[in-house]
Amino acid sequence: MEKLPKTSWTNSEKKITKYQNSLLLWYDGNRRDLPWRKNPSLYKTVVSEFMLQQTRVSTVLPYFENWLIQFPNFHALANASENSVLKAWEGLGYYSRARNLHKLAQISASWADPPQSIKEWKKLPGVGPYIAAAVTSIAMEQKDAVCDGNVVRVLSRIFAISESFKDGATAQKKIRPVAQLLISKKRPGDYNQAIMELGATICHRSSPMCTVCPILTLCKSGKSGNWTNYPSIIPKPKKKAALKRYWIEGDRGLLLHASQKKRLLGVFELPEKIPDFIHHSPFTETMPLSVRKRTIGNVEYTEEIFRLEIFTLNEDVLPSGYAWMEWCEINSFTLSGPHRKWINEIRKSFEK
Ligand code: ADE
Repeated sequence: MEKLPKTSWTNSEKKITKYQNSLLLWYDGNRRDLPWRKNPSLYKTVVSEFMLQQTRVSTVLPYFENWLIQFPNFHALANASENSVLKAWEGLGYYSRARNLHKLAQISASWADPPQSIKEWKKLPGVGPYIAAAVTSIAMEQKDAVCDGNVVRVLSRIFAISESFKDGATAQKKIRPVAQLLISKKRPGDYNQAIMELGATICHRSSPMCTVCPILTLCKSGKSGNWTNYPSIIPKPKKKAALKRYWIEGDRGLLLHASQKKRLLGVFELPEKIPDFIHHSPFTETMPLSVRKRTIGNVEYTEEIFRLEIFTLNEDVLPSGYAWMEWCEINSFTLSGPHRKWINEIRKSFEK
């Protein structure tokens, strides 16, 4: 990153202390009553941070509560089946997070003591700079600053950082040294949570609540009212893609296929092609049963769902990745969020 603007207060110890104290005082009086903050533990911190990466608090809450009932500690999680772990994650997206968390729990069985340093945490599955710093600071009081999207927004506004970043990840990497400079050495875990909390509840993307902000007097863009300029992240162009899907329902149920997409690996969806073991007469895709849209990352997919009604099976054994789902089994299958919804709606439409 370019140097911070010359007028920034980062070379004044007094101002840094004022900033930390104001933020922590605000946090002490305003922190949300979140379940991972009640009787905190390393396990709760790790699970919550895995869930919170890429996902907002309100979405995470019911998943976290259910997860702790199903898998109350590292040991229980390590011994759970991959299927039950994916199932408990169903709907949260980015399923590699669930697989990595499961692997991490299995690795934890061999710990005499949990690793203490950010460097060691970064070697664990699914643990990048964000999760590593969150865990070591919150659970172990190490002085490691987090720099997620919220922190980028708060810091780039405080110092009116005008550099344009090519994406969010680059902004986080470049602003991390500023975050590190400002972390409270006395309460690093609370400090990290406080700045993320400020970003989530006061320093909103649009319409930040500057008048009630505890650090307004130290915030360059808040005082001048030009916060909309920060952070400057070049938007990724939205892409569009079209997909075909097949509704193949027979005596054994509805045919599903485990997704090969990185973010949905192993999660069941309607198949994208008619597999070779389905024998059918020439099929022309004229009228789709339904046309649906969903967005994954920056790609908007249009999915046309075609129904194949008459078919026989060439082979009795299903190739790996395929499964027949009976309706009574629908709740035990891990389906992607959109496909669960669409399948239920289409099935209902047949009953009319
Ligand atoms: N976002 C991600 N982790 C958080 C935490 N521990 N507190 C507040 N916001 C968060």
